[in-house]
Amino acid sequence: MTDLRSHYEAHAQGHVFAHFDTLSATEQQTLLNQAAAIDLAEVASLYQSLVKGAGGKDESLLDGLEPADYIPLPGHREDANASLWREAVLKGEGALRTGRVAAFTVAGGQGTRLGFDGPKGTYGVTPVLSKSLFQVFAEKILAAGRIYGRPVSWYLMTSVLNHEETVSFFERHDYFGLKKERVHFFTQGFMPAVDGEGKILMAEKGEIALSPDGHGGALRALVRSGAVRQMEADGVDILSYFQVDNPLVRCLDPTFIGFHLMNESDLSSKMVPKAYAGEKVGVFCQKDGKAMVVEYSDLPEELTNATGPDGELRFRAGSIAIHLFNRDFIERLGSGDDESARLPFHLAHKKVPFVDASGVRHEPTSPNGYKFEMFVFDALPFARNPVIIETERADDFSPVKNAEGVDSPRTCRDDQLRQFARWAQAAGIDLKTDETGLPPFAFEVSPLFADTSTRFKKAWDALQHQPVLTEGLVLV
Ligand code: UTP
Repeated sequence: MTDLRSHYEAHAQGHVFAHFDTLSATEQQTLLNQAAAIDLAEVASLYQSLVKGAGGKDESLLDGLEPADYIPLPGHREDANASLWREAVLKGEGALRTGRVAAFTVAGGQGTRLGFDGPKGTYGVTPVLSKSLFQVFAEKILAAGRIYGRPVSWYLMTSVLNHEETVSFFERHDYFGLKKERVHFFTQGFMPAVDGEGKILMAEKGEIALSPDGHGGALRALVRSGAVRQMEADGVDILSYFQVDNPLVRCLDPTFIGFHLMNESDLSSKMVPKAYAGEKVGVFCQKDGKAMVVEYSDLPEELTNATGPDGELRFRAGSIAIHLFNRDFIERLGSGDDESARLPFHLAHKKVPFVDASGVRHEPTSPNGYKFEMFVFDALPFARNPVIIETERADDFSPVKNAEGVDSPRTCRDDQLRQFARWAQAAGIDLKTDETGLPPFAFEVSPLFADTSTRFKKAWDALQHQPVLTEGLVLV
């Protein structure tokens, strides 16, 4: 204890223990555990480089930036090669049949924009039953296990802030039909928030203001938690990464997996053409032969709006946070052994409620604290043969980010309905939709009934008694 305290004093962070003597024994232990897990030298160096430095942004990073190459969907560009796509799907199906791929959801975020009280994965999203995001993914994973004859493992990253609630949600719902042994939870790391002087902020007298270390923290958490060892023991060498907020995602897409394998890639990604220049998604770029994602806020306006000879946006490859990671690549980056391959931290300036050294609580009305986060896409420049493939937005991406407006529960519900309606129409069902493809009533297709248009038609045709497609119908 004295050692830890003097270590904090030596780093000018002694105030963390200002109220130590007034805490109960349990509170003291909690604080000591938190304090022991923080790397003060790392915090000091991040403060110096990101807060005191030039805002953390090195403008020269953007010199010579080019749009990244990507593999276009058949029919979407002149150079699109449909036979490659046919080859990819077969390769990917083979990998799923041999159990080489596991699903991976990052669910450690705080979901502040949605403003829902609970882990975001427990939020109800489907149009009729309001099934939770976790249930939708679970059913997709279960369906893949049935289709390919090999149950699929699922890794989920939580944070200390939502871990217990997440696990008990799965317990309460009996793992949605998945085998408990195949669902692996682990928590991500955290970072303390600091003030403008680099002092660690205290959430309570005995509690440091901590926040998860970003989705990029997944790589080191996968290593530290032993998840990569578990994958190895199970014969899994590819992790299919997706975010907890996107129920449309194809959790285990054979075509994507096939391209990843055919290119011997360390890290593959999906892109969609941006809907409009100012859309708030990161953009796949390349520089000096290395792929990278540049955040929309970092891309200069002239590049954001630049168009090519075809009249299309030059920097159009929007990142939708769907990736495939090789297990050995995760180990290389996540172990920290390779000094030349470390994910950088980014800075977020936020309102952080805190208790000061004299015990007074402050509820700031403007940003007062700095949080440090890593982004998973920063792994791209370190990847061998990164592959980016195009996907249809309508079949892979409709996130729930905000309580209202764009990327909200409403838009996500409508996008699910449009997908179900497209499948129904393709199966020959007479269903009128509006000009955006939205059906006039809500119905729902469980991933266990079908998870693609082709499988929908097959499952529908196989029904002995085809129901009338009406309001509230649920196909399971
Ligand atoms: P977002 O960037 O949307 O952040 O996360 P968020 O925390 O969920 O939501 P806001 O910004 O507070 O409203 C994208 C994905 O990354 C995960 C989230 O759970 C989500 O699946 N994530 C984010 C983590 O797992 N850990 C983090 O530290 C941050």
